[in-house]
Amino acid sequence: GAEVVINGSSSPAVVDRSNESIKHNIQPASSKWRHNQTLSLRIRKQILKFLDAEKDISVLKGTLKPGDIIHYIFDRDSTMNVSQNLYELLPRTSPLKNKHFGTCAIVGNSGVLLNSGCGQEIDAHSFVIRCNLAPVQEYARDVGLKTDLVTMNPSVIQRAFEDLVNATWREKLLQRLHSLNGSILWIPAFMARGGKERVEWVNELILKHRVNVRTAYPSLRLLHAVRGYWLTNKVHIKRPTTGLLMYTLATRFCNQIYLYGFWPFPLDQNQNPVKYHYYDSLKYGYTSQASPHTMPLEFKALKSLHEQGALKLTVGQCD
Ligand code: CTP
Repeated sequence: GAEVVINGSSSPAVVDRSNESIKHNIQPASSKWRHNQTLSLRIRKQILKFLDAEKDISVLKGTLKPGDIIHYIFDRDSTMNVSQNLYELLPRTSPLKNKHFGTCAIVGNSGVLLNSGCGQEIDAHSFVIRCNLAPVQEYARDVGLKTDLVTMNPSVIQRAFEDLVNATWREKLLQRLHSLNGSILWIPAFMARGGKERVEWVNELILKHRVNVRTAYPSLRLLHAVRGYWLTNKVHIKRPTTGLLMYTLATRFCNQIYLYGFWPFPLDQNQNPVKYHYYDSLKYGYTSQASPHTMPLEFKALKSLHEQGALKLTVGQCD
């Protein structure tokens, strides 16, 4: 039929609730997976009814001016003023304007990447998207180095860079930003009021040190549009994760999409423990109650798309 079934109800897989590894088993295996071009195109078209990555990936200079007032998306009663620095860093044209890639990699941050040996495979894609300034250098064998776009939730400044309390941390962040070397730095600056100062610090650092990155700040409508698309497909997401946002955007400009490091479970397919992040000691509890995310639900949707050939999930070793 013509329908895209995303919520997994079409999957004939046997569910054994006593066994995580069977429950989330990825079928077909890597060697058997085939890309479904027709389905990918249909999904792109559907998503285009809700959002357009070319536009929604960033607010553009022409649409705002310094001093403009913005209501935070998750804190509607709180506002921010568009600073001179933010204005300077808004792109004039979309960083994705007229972009089309054969294959793209989206690299999530799950510890399932450790010992995967996926680095080379990831780096072979034409466009590589990473999340939350995750470190690459020390993990290159498993995660690769190529970075064309990297996201940065303001909370990362607190979690990974000690809120820039001293010169050492500022230098650390600066080095990380310099290493991006011309790629797109995607900063959700208008989501939550908690990120206000952190976004400003980063903007200031980039301008002061003439860091070579192409900054992008997602549009005010992106979150709702992405949520709307998935809701329409019966995937009831409270607040889409960065990873799901990236997949949804990537459908616009990537012919084939490969996902790595998406595994929001504490055990892998062979029942071995998996770290929440490949690079730090954040724990799984982090995703439960307190978190607005519903990662396992997202995973189920992505898994279903994998089974239908719309995307490829890699959750084990690369050949
Ligand atoms: N991810 C995953 N399994 C994990 C950790 C992360 O599938 N164990 C995916 C999620 O899609 C997540 C992305 O990888 O959005 C990037 O991970 P992370 O930086 O941890 O994102 P979070 O901070 O957890 O969530 P977000 O940035 O989406 O608020």
